[in-house]
Amino acid sequence: MSNTKIQIFDTTLRDGEQVPGCKLDTKQKVIIAEQLDISGVDIIEAGFPVSSPGDFKSVEAISKMVKNATVCGLTRAVENDIKVAAEALKQAKKPRIHTGIGTSDSHIKFKFNSNRDRIIERAYDAVSYAKKFVEDVEFYAEDAGRTDNDYLARVCEAAIKAGATVLNIPDTTGYCLPNEYGAKIKYLMENVKGIEKATVSCHCHNDLGLATANSIEGIINGARQIECTINGIGERAGNTALEEVVMVLKQHQHLNLETNINTEMLYGLSQLVSESMGIYTQPNKAIVGANAFAHSSGIHQDGVIKHRETYEIINPKDIGLIESKIVLTARSGRAALAYRAKNIGYALTKLQLDTIYANFLTCADLKKEVNDNDIHQIIETSSVYRDIIPI
Ligand code: KIV
Ligand code: ZN
Repeated sequence: MSNTKIQIFDTTLRDGEQVPGCKLDTKQKVIIAEQLDISGVDIIEAGFPVSSPGDFKSVEAISKMVKNATVCGLTRAVENDIKVAAEALKQAKKPRIHTGIGTSDSHIKFKFNSNRDRIIERAYDAVSYAKKFVEDVEFYAEDAGRTDNDYLARVCEAAIKAGATVLNIPDTTGYCLPNEYGAKIKYLMENVKGIEKATVSCHCHNDLGLATANSIEGIINGARQIECTINGIGERAGNTALEEVVMVLKQHQHLNLETNINTEMLYGLSQLVSESMGIYTQPNKAIVGANAFAHSSGIHQDGVIKHRETYEIINPKDIGLIESKIVLTARSGRAALAYRAKNIGYALTKLQLDTIYANFLTCADLKKEVNDNDIHQIIETSSVYRDIIPI
């Protein structure tokens, strides 16, 4: 059975850029967009053009530069937003307008001081208006995660009637449990008239650490697009991490779902975004964190040295790393020390290793991590040094 393609919609430059304290200039955004385009991202959300002249300029520049991906601009369900986005996207080969409105009772009451029927009218009008400028219009039902499913289905029907090509179902507040989010997508797939005319999209936030799990449940239940950011950056606790969903699908081939992403670019993309935004990635971050392929305890190191897959489900080369890291600490065993000593030019016999290991532990108790220089020093100052055969 051939695999079904999942569209990757990257919103690093829009939702991702909403991280407090982060501001990218147009040049930095164009560089990131270029790498995203080369990596195989299907849709790049380049910004929110009406929000500032700088954002407008960035969306315009990215539209001009991108060769393969669809370029998308965000709007509210407001005519001027849509007109300005269309203008910014004019030079895109494949432009998409992303418009929408809050649909949960809380948004309807407190944000819009409105009612359910009026919100449906506004959704319909916004999509119809956007269709005057571009064929590809994505509609978002903001706070869909907390929107009652029956009503959400009515909103989606109206958006499809108005010509929406994509229906975005955001869990804006990161509230849903994976089974609830999956059930919501399933409900829409089964109850929205005309759903076959549109692609359903998952847009999950990470307030409870469930964004990736929710997105995966969404596609298992029929969604065909995932909205995500590099390193999972975004408002509050962030968005679904692109590298996580892409690698979940690569590692779980039995789902028969795949993306167009060249996974060997993931580590480089992560570094580029982190450096450009000045946002440090936590060391234990899945896939791209500094420790994601580092092994420090003796039992694990011994296993990985004997057979990498004992403690690694992903080949580091698949995400663009050269190899896994064996980190030498006071928890490391002889196997790891011998391995690292060999890498830097010493073939140790069992007896030599025993002597050097005792010195190594003394050093490791004083330091967090023992580096190659330390190992050279430990070996060169040991009583067995003159008998060691260099490689
Ligand atoms: O989280 C959200 O609801 C959004 C929409 C504006 C798409 O980012
Ligand atoms: Zn969002």
